[in-house]
Amino acid sequence: MIVAGSNSQGMAAIISRELNEKLVMIERKIFPDGELYVRISSEPEERAIVVQSLTPPQDRSLMELFLIVDSLKGLNVNDVIAVIPYLAYARQDKRFLTGEPITLKVVLDTLRGLGVSKVLTVDVHNEKQFKKFMGDNGINILPTEIIAEYFKDRLSSNSIVLAPDKGALWRAKSVAEKLGLRYDYIEKKRDRTTGEIKALPKELDVSDKDVLIVDDIISTGRTIALAARNLKEKNAKKIYVACTHAVLVENALDRIYQNGVLEVVATDTLPSPISKLSIAPLLVRYLKQCLSKI
Ligand code: R5P
Repeated sequence: MIVAGSNSQGMAAIISRELNEKLVMIERKIFPDGELYVRISSEPEERAIVVQSLTPPQDRSLMELFLIVDSLKGLNVNDVIAVIPYLAYARQDKRFLTGEPITLKVVLDTLRGLGVSKVLTVDVHNEKQFKKFMGDNGINILPTEIIAEYFKDRLSSNSIVLAPDKGALWRAKSVAEKLGLRYDYIEKKRDRTTGEIKALPKELDVSDKDVLIVDDIISTGRTIALAARNLKEKNAKKIYVACTHAVLVENALDRIYQNGVLEVVATDTLPSPISKLSIAPLLVRYLKQCLSKI
């Protein structure tokens, strides 16, 4: 059975149709004091795939996922797989400062503790840390092929694909290789206490070239805005941006466009005006492979 969390009903419906498995909607209400209630009244199956993206407000989305998983376990569903297109809390994947929690680990440990056998997600912030906590039961799907497909007719052969920081270079490389383009990264430094970011000087030959910046998340848009400003100062021509998760808080899109970006697109792991690239085919493809092996 495919269980649709309230944030991912469309995605669950596509998965259900493509896998030819029953689609189950949950009953959901909020008590007068603000607590969440869910119930699954459908006949249980041997295996359940729960689809729930951790859309803001993340805590509510996460709690709903926890409650769905426990409901399924209470119905004696043997195998519960969580499909979480946007895995919130993944950026705090280590203790950057003493006394901090590792929120990625807290989320994954809780899901495992509740009885989830596998977590399937899209472009988790740090795959190495995700794998460290989930092992082979953590599956990370990358959307680089759909990003490359979208930009293949928009970029000339003289264009360059850039990561907004060194840690994200592999993502830019993956898109660039699919497009047969060069790739590089912008130097960025984040103050771990204030959260402030700044671009560090770096030699980048972008003069008169079109640029595609590829990142995992756009939240406030400050990272992309800073990168775009930097590239404009270096005489870049058209600046395009692709990201996986359009969190888009504050006035992120205004900030990005005001700094010279021509177009910004995202996948549909989160709903937004720029979420044009569907990741459903990638999820379906993986689930078909995965289920045929079980
Ligand atoms: C940071 O390491 C991430 O990959 C993103 O670059 C960052 O989360 C984007 O955040 P914002 O849009 O607030 O700058």
